[in-house]
Amino acid sequence: MKPLLELSSVGMHFETPGGIFDALRDVNLRINEGEFVSLIGHSGCGKSTVLNIVAGLLQATRGGAILAGREVTAPGPERAVVFQNHSLLPWLSVWDNVALAVQEVFRRRMNRAEMRDWIAHNLELVQMLHARDKRPGEISGGMKQRVGIARALAMQPRVLLMDEPFGALDALTRARLQDTLMQIQTAQGNTVIMITHDVDEAVLLSDRIVMMTNGPSATIGEILPIDLPRPRDRLMLADNAHYNRLRHRVLRFLHERDDDGDVAGVAASVTALQTPASSPASPPKKSAASA
Ligand SMILES: Nc1ncnc2c1ncn2[C@@H]1O[C@H](COP(=O)(O)OP(=O)(O)OP(=O)(O)O)[C@@H](O)[C@H]1O
Ligand SMILES: [Mg+2]
Repeated sequence: MKPLLELSSVGMHFETPGGIFDALRDVNLRINEGEFVSLIGHSGCGKSTVLNIVAGLLQATRGGAILAGREVTAPGPERAVVFQNHSLLPWLSVWDNVALAVQEVFRRRMNRAEMRDWIAHNLELVQMLHARDKRPGEISGGMKQRVGIARALAMQPRVLLMDEPFGALDALTRARLQDTLMQIQTAQGNTVIMITHDVDEAVLLSDRIVMMTNGPSATIGEILPIDLPRPRDRLMLADNAHYNRLRHRVLRFLHERDDDGDVAGVAASVTALQTPASSPASPPKKSAASA
């Protein structure tokens, strides 16, 4: 099968005042239509850079991304992005931020009433309909993030690019939105690339987990297929031996790459490997400067 998206020999360097910074080297990845792929790796390794290249917001300095047979050179409405730092238009209300995207995509296919219902439906999915008239400056970070998710879902994109979409949310909201995302992705067959720091989230949602090495010159260290049947139920999986083996594999990769790891770090990783799946298992975040 021909992949929907192909990254071949992607390299990225940035020109900085201190000289050239080599962020990514030789990133190769093929993603099939309808696949859910997570990118995981330590802070500063280059995950957002990879996502931005697929989004068409950054041009790789070597190699490139091919989407449905065409080279990616610019953003497009078939690729919706949920940004790491929520990026709503500050002068528009919550409603209008979603409406703008819906109009761009569905102008010719929906009448005004249908668009209104669709915007309301997507704001309801993220429990933000009550704040429809507020501006981004009047809502919290987590609320802005939820509006960004509603905006992306409302575009029914062929490819959904999500940069730590649930990072700023409390555990319950996060779990609810993860379940919503799984249902929507199953129903619509979107291809998803999601960056996360949360190992449980990655295993629960993904078909494959792409684990990146630390930068500079970061690349793909290992790709783990997640062959758990769907639909997936987080409570059932907590006691599933195979699920726990998969999360061990990811945790082990991250801890092996943690070059700050001292005795305490090793002890922490062993504890993390032994705790049940329901406990928080996010790897420690390293500062971007250390990567
Ligand atoms: N515009 C830029 N100019 C210079 N360096 C950059 C630029 N953008 C990113 N970098 C560097 O490239 C590396 C990768 O950055 P990137 O934002 O992709 O990391 P990340 O894996 O998404 O990290 P995090 O998990 O903290 O979001 C970092 O070292 C970062 O400092
Ligand atoms: Mg990032």
